[in-house]
Amino acid sequence: MAEAIIRVEGAEFRYEGADEDAVSGVSVEIAAGEFVAVLGRNGSGKSTLAKLLNALILPKAGEVYIDGVAAHEEKNSLAVRKMCGMVFQNPDNQIVATIVEEDCAFGPENIGVPPAEIRERVDSALRAVGMEAFRESAPHMLSGGQKQRVAIAGVLAMRPKIIVFDESTAMLDPSGRREVFDVARQLNRGEGLTVVWITHFMDEALKSDRVLVMDEGRIALEGTPREVFMQTDAIHRMGLDVPQMARLAAELRREGLQLPPDIMTVEEMAVELCRLR
Ligand SMILES: Nc1ncnc2c1ncn2[C@@H]1O[C@H](COP(=O)(O)OP(=O)(O)OP(=O)(O)O)[C@@H](O)[C@H]1O
Ligand SMILES: [Mg+2]
Repeated sequence: MAEAIIRVEGAEFRYEGADEDAVSGVSVEIAAGEFVAVLGRNGSGKSTLAKLLNALILPKAGEVYIDGVAAHEEKNSLAVRKMCGMVFQNPDNQIVATIVEEDCAFGPENIGVPPAEIRERVDSALRAVGMEAFRESAPHMLSGGQKQRVAIAGVLAMRPKIIVFDESTAMLDPSGRREVFDVARQLNRGEGLTVVWITHFMDEALKSDRVLVMDEGRIALEGTPREVFMQTDAIHRMGLDVPQMARLAAELRREGLQLPPDIMTVEEMAVELCRLR
């Protein structure tokens, strides 16, 4: 595995007034350039883990390193936030300006980037998300997927090494979802950006390099999408579903069909069914 850009060791966090830890004993390493999906039922600790990576909260025990910088130490919070950007669920809550390019410039302006460099950053960020034609548009005129791409551009303009997406496609229609997922995947493949992709959509997890499944504040399963989704029983116990074709394959196996345990896509299912004749 390449050098870990994210290293979490035994992280614990409890919200004020809560009587249970939201995250307990989480240890995980993510390599630079990886695209890692994080799954888990409501309340399993996904957003809490995201906030620990971004130094929005500090763990009460354990350590979090972002590119070698201790994110569990308050003095590093600003540096960590520059390296690790976040995109949230609701694009309307992330857009602050009334013109797209001004919105993208907001972050760099805030940290004192010189104007000429801001212009260059905004240009390349809007290009990277395919929104350069909308630079002078009003964000409220855009579709949900386009707004979310503007929000991503705003984060990119900060030149982060990592972006954590916390259910960034949850509020979008299917085409917006695909649009935003594809932009994130492309930033990962093309620019080497490390991506942590929190989602409830199994088809998105299937297209990731690696999947982490959280349950009750811990990482309960971890592996390639295939390795994880083959464990249908464990996944169901954790209140989650496996991809449609994995579910169908499991049912057909129960009916006695000789199908391999790692069918995930329609294409794979078609090939295996033809082989059975
Ligand atoms: N601000 C808060 N104050 C108190 N408890 C909180 C707060 N935010 C989350 N929690 C609790 O911490 C636990 C983990 O929550 P978290 O938001 O990390 O889960 P999640 O996996 O992101 O869930 P979801 O899928 O609903 O977004 C839950 O028990 C939740 O109720
Ligand atoms: Mg959440």
